[in-house]
Amino acid sequence: MTDSSRYGYDADSLTALEAITEAQKIAFAPMVFQAASSLCELGVLDFLSGCRQGATQDEICAQCSLDRYAAGVLLDLALSARILYRQGEQYHLGKIGHFLTHDPMTRVNLHFTRDVCYQGLAELTTSLREGRPAGLSGFGEGKTIYPLLGRLPQKARDSWFGFDHFYSDGAFKAALPRVFALGPKHVYDVGGNTGKWALRCCEYDSDVQVTILDLPEQIALARDNVAAHGMAGRIHLHAVDLLCDATLPGEADVWWMSQFLDCFSEAQIVAILCKTAAAMQPQARLCIMELFWDRQPYEAGAFSLNASSLYFTCLANGTSRFYGAEQFVALVQQAGLEIESQVDGLGVGHTLLVCRKAASDFE
Ligand SMILES: C[S@@+](CC[C@H](N)C(=O)[O-])C[C@H]1O[C@@H](n2cnc3c(N)ncnc32)[C@H](O)[C@@H]1O
Repeated sequence: MTDSSRYGYDADSLTALEAITEAQKIAFAPMVFQAASSLCELGVLDFLSGCRQGATQDEICAQCSLDRYAAGVLLDLALSARILYRQGEQYHLGKIGHFLTHDPMTRVNLHFTRDVCYQGLAELTTSLREGRPAGLSGFGEGKTIYPLLGRLPQKARDSWFGFDHFYSDGAFKAALPRVFALGPKHVYDVGGNTGKWALRCCEYDSDVQVTILDLPEQIALARDNVAAHGMAGRIHLHAVDLLCDATLPGEADVWWMSQFLDCFSEAQIVAILCKTAAAMQPQARLCIMELFWDRQPYEAGAFSLNASSLYFTCLANGTSRFYGAEQFVALVQQAGLEIESQVDGLGVGHTLLVCRKAASDFE
């Protein structure tokens, strides 16, 4: 269902003047980004958010401890970027400034870009040429970011988990009734990270058992979190690298993969799904929850996902992305799984695919 007309991607509809204006926005995008980030960090947007009548440059200088030079360069670019507007001597928060200050999604995205991605993105061309996350070296040695997650600098770590949890948390609420309609007794949470979904399952259903499967480094984080919630009796932990040959356990009646398969290349996704299908009981179901750029109700959603894909390119692994649904569904089918149902629009823009082994696999 890739429909490029949905977001206006099927035509070049800008006038030449609009196009050259947009081109300058791209050429200077890092300046605008850093200015927006500083306006937040220095408290300018928060201050103006509380000023119904707006504030003068001198008042902003006094409130935010800035001299006139510093306030001047920031305020002028904020006007050009429509973050603020000015009437007479009074600066006011514009709608863009409002969302930068108050919208949780915008803030999570901005912090993720600033603290996790910004520096590494300078290595995009190398990453693309070499198929490796060349920007990751700023955080340590490794082929992927995943084993390093627990050891990232505090700000990067907070922003990584903030980004991941913001998107999955909202969708978890919407997915729980759909997953539990399948009547699971034992759920495998593959790529379960710190155990957020596992804990939500145990809150939702007082009998269900959950096993988190993840890399050893994440299992260590999950162990502390699960113990802190007093759930060690119902949430079990299984350290495994899904890219290695280790065989998977097979007791689950529901396998759950949320924001997990986007961590892998197409070939790796097929390999992981084949391995999963081989371990699944005949009647088990695999529930995949993913963000697909071509299933977003708003253009901003498609834009955010296509931009975020470069995080995978430069920092996470060099080979994965947020996929389009059409591309992804073909991989699921290639692995011998049938999609029984699919629903879009969970949380901020997730899709849930409920899959089973193809009938021919257990005839
Ligand atoms: C983006 S997080 C998703 C976390 C969680 N499922 C959610 O929805 O918020 C991806 C998870 O996959 C795990 N992961 C990445 N590569 C893996 C591998 N090769 N084997 C097992 N787990 C892996 C990571 O450690 C991380 O916990």
